[in-house]
Amino acid sequence: MRTKMMAMAFLVLAGGAAQARSSIWDGAYTDAQADRGRTAYMQNCSRCHGATLMGTFEIPPLVGRIMPYYAGSSLETFFDYIATAMPLDRPGSLSPATNADIVAYILKTNDVPSGSKELTAAGSKAIQFDAKPRKK
Ligand code: HEC
Repeated sequence: MRTKMMAMAFLVLAGGAAQARSSIWDGAYTDAQADRGRTAYMQNCSRCHGATLMGTFEIPPLVGRIMPYYAGSSLETFFDYIATAMPLDRPGSLSPATNADIVAYILKTNDVPSGSKELTAAGSKAIQFDAKPRKK
């Protein structure tokens, strides 16, 4: 009984913490990570989405419109899409670490600032995908 009540208290606390997510604008990745991500992007994604991430007539760009498009949920949603649906010709073939590097590179290309902590697949859940920096 006591254990159950403690578990419930923990759930309430955890729920509260989930609402106070940090933002992608708070420094969600490192520069070194984005550099690795650039290499991985060029190897696995640029063939379709282009070397400047602008896409083509049939393939969506990964700069600009993705910001409002993915805004309003956690970074995990964006991360999971890439991890499970991309690269289109062999979905889910990249490691979680490589996907994290690529997400970092995409954020950087969209002018989202870097920070001092590397992005991880698990960590992306606690980070809110905001289209713009929050007003302080
Ligand atoms: C073989 C071509 C191809 C490759 C390689 C590829 N993509 Fe895609 N990608 C597409 C196409 C086509 C779509 C649109 C899919 C759809 O609408 O269902 C897409 C959609 C996306 C989207 C969603 C964009 C939006 O506006 O919703 C993201 C994000 C994305 N790709 C990231 C990546 C990343 C990261 C890689 C490399 C790991 C990658 N893609 C590799 C063809 C490709």
